[in-house]
Amino acid sequence: MRNLLDSTDLTVQEIDELIALALDIAAKPEKYREALKYKKLATLFYEPSTRTRISFTAAMMELGGNVLGFSDANSSSVNKGETVADTVRVVENFADIIAMRHNKDGAPYEAVQYSKVPIINAGDGGHNHPTQTLTDLLTIFREKATFNGLTIGFCGDLKFGRTVHSLTKALGRYKNVKFVFISPNELKIPAYLKNEVCDKSNCNYLETNSLEEVIPTLDALYMTRVQKERFDTEEEYNRLKDSFILDAEKLKTAKKDMLILHPLPRINEITQEVDNDARACYFKQVQNGKYIRMALIYTLLKWKDEGQKPLAADYKVVEGEKCANPRCISSIENVKPLQKVSENGQKRCYYCDYSN
Ligand code: NCD
Repeated sequence: MRNLLDSTDLTVQEIDELIALALDIAAKPEKYREALKYKKLATLFYEPSTRTRISFTAAMMELGGNVLGFSDANSSSVNKGETVADTVRVVENFADIIAMRHNKDGAPYEAVQYSKVPIINAGDGGHNHPTQTLTDLLTIFREKATFNGLTIGFCGDLKFGRTVHSLTKALGRYKNVKFVFISPNELKIPAYLKNEVCDKSNCNYLETNSLEEVIPTLDALYMTRVQKERFDTEEEYNRLKDSFILDAEKLKTAKKDMLILHPLPRINEITQEVDNDARACYFKQVQNGKYIRMALIYTLLKWKDEGQKPLAADYKVVEGEKCANPRCISSIENVKPLQKVSENGQKRCYYCDYSN
C-alpha cells in the first residue's frame, strides 16, 4: 500500500501527475464532486493546526467524502495513554484513509507499521511535512511553470522547520536547482539533509546568515516561522525569534518576479505591507493546498484499490540502537529501535532521521 510520509515517497513523475490532477480539479471542480462518495478520511491531529486540518477536511468534502477524527489529543484516548499503534488499529476500522499530525518526529512511521489503510503525514514534529511540500510545489509550478534551474532561498528556522526539510528533498530532484539556506547559526538545516539532497544530486547550496546579501539572486524566497514549540527554553526562542523580518525595504533589491512563499502561520517574519506586493504568494499557497490534497487523497485511494506497493527505498532497515533524539516518537513510545542504513553506510533513526 502507498502512504505519504516523506516527500520522496512519490516519484518526480507521480508529483507531475498530482499537479496535473490538482490543476484539473481547480478548473473543473464539479467533475470531482462525487468522486469519493461514501469514503471516509480520519484526521488524527495530536498537535494544533488551522489550515492543514481544515484544508484536508475541505478537500475530502469537495470530493463528496466524509471526515471524522480529533483535533486535540486531549479529547481522545491518547489522554489515557493510548499508543499511536493502538489508535491506528482502532481508527482503520472506521476510515478509508488517515491524515495524522503529531508533535513527535517520526510518529507516522510507527503508524504505518500497523495500519491497513493509507497514512498521510500531515506534519511530524520538526521532521517532515510532505503535503505542505505538494502545496508549495503546485504554487511554484503555477507561477514559474518549471522547477528546473530555480534558485530557492529558505529563510528562518531551518533546523526545526519541517516544511523546509520536505521541500528541500522534493526540489533537489529537479535539474540545476540551487538552494540558499539563510538562518542563524543555531537554526541551520540538519546536516543529513544537505548530504542526502545535495551531495547525491547535482544541486548546489550555499549557507549564510545574511538575507540582504543573497536576496537579489533568488527566484523564490521561502520564509519560515521560528518554531517556538520545539525549543528547550523560552529564553533561547526569544533570542532568535526575530532573526529575519522581510519588509518592503529588503524587497527593493529582489527580482521583480521573485516568489515570496510562507507555509503560514506567520508571526513577525513578513511585515503586513508585503501582503500587497504582487510577488506575495502565501495566500495562494493556502488555496493550492486544498486542490493538491484533493488530488492526493483521490490518488492514494485509487492506488489502494489497485494494490500498489510502496516505492523501493534507497536504504536498508535494520534493528539498531535506541534513538537519542528527545523529540523522536521513540522517546515516548516503546517502538522497535530501527535504523536506516544508506548506500554509503551511514546510519540514522528509521523514525526521525537522527544520527546518534
Ligand atoms: C507549518 C507547519 O505546521 O509545519 N504550517 C502549516 O502546516 N501550514 C508551518 C509552521 O507551523 O510554522
